[in-house]
Amino acid sequence: MSSVVRSAVTGVGAYLPEEVVTNDDLAKMIDTSDAWIFERTGIRQRRRAAPDQATSDLAVEAAKRALEVAGRRPQEVDLIIVATTTSDLTFPATAAIVQRKLGVPVCPCFDVQAVCSGFVYAMSVADGFVARGLSRCAVVIGAEIMTRLMDWTDRGTCVLFGDGAGAVVVEPISGTGEGTDRGILGFALRCDGEKQDLLYVDGGPTTTGTVGHLRMMGREVFRHAVVNISEAVLMAADRASVKVADIDWFIPHQANQRILDGVAKRLGIPESKVISTVAMHANTSAASIPLAFAQGVEDGRIRPGQLLLLEAMGGGLTWGAVALRL
Ligand code: UT7
Repeated sequence: MSSVVRSAVTGVGAYLPEEVVTNDDLAKMIDTSDAWIFERTGIRQRRRAAPDQATSDLAVEAAKRALEVAGRRPQEVDLIIVATTTSDLTFPATAAIVQRKLGVPVCPCFDVQAVCSGFVYAMSVADGFVARGLSRCAVVIGAEIMTRLMDWTDRGTCVLFGDGAGAVVVEPISGTGEGTDRGILGFALRCDGEKQDLLYVDGGPTTTGTVGHLRMMGREVFRHAVVNISEAVLMAADRASVKVADIDWFIPHQANQRILDGVAKRLGIPESKVISTVAMHANTSAASIPLAFAQGVEDGRIRPGQLLLLEAMGGGLTWGAVALRL
């Protein structure tokens, strides 16, 4: 049995902005109802960032909590990756702003843009650094203020999204190379750019010169979601040398309860093993997996040594999955 370096998650943290926006609050602004939103999506409420909050502010709070749990100080951090689609500025990267606000010394800091799949992509990048000995204390953050991308006259999209941030600390640990190791065991990353028109933002610095608004063909995205996500989960599990049946907790991207249920059913994962926060947070894009992860750890369901399967799908279309043992 050879010895390998694995990337272990040693701390998880989350931050949610204070303001709660319920479905009933939205029904006062647009032609919708709590019943429609809940039946179609499972969403009851979402959080909205204060006007003076930027994505980096949410990211910093989540990172502080994850570092506290890991017993690490910002001065020890040597890599920051922020998965976001709602950066503070066109540049610098939100990760550079987070570095300054946290007081992290000079080190690689950059953003990963894979929309709702961003956290899964960012974890795989962090694994590349940590497992190669290039980082001993990485912070991977998913942070979004999706409410700033909404067209508040489009009821088909504006009811679905919310704001928040989640973070993990990733550190090296030695393993045997088997599926019984702690740490990141395997992942699958996918993108099909031909499906760009199904989910995108209609603005950008080199096209319209504006930020733009989120546009989605919801039914079409839904149609691809269950099949694509299930495929990525199976691929990640295979690469990790683990069986889907052995997963302790399934931590999906929180877009729609019906998608969560559909994927779990297709993969034969019982409802009791699925972490679902979509009712409370709505779709927070790249933040949704670490937010759900933190929730599961904080309430004592997710424990060290357990096998976790993270998955997501979003604009691009991108999708992917990560298998890891905590
Ligand atoms: O994280 C990125 C991934 N994104 C997703 O996973 C989203 C995937 N898609 C979905 O979750 C669902 O497609 C939605 C929740 C977005 C929509 O559910 P649907 O069952 O596909 O509804 P629909 O878009 O086909 O619309 C059905 C009806 C329409 O009315 P008509 O044309 O049948 O008269 C819509 O106008 O529902 C109407 N509708 C609404 N009614 C009340 C659309 N949005 C609303 C609303 N309130 N907010």
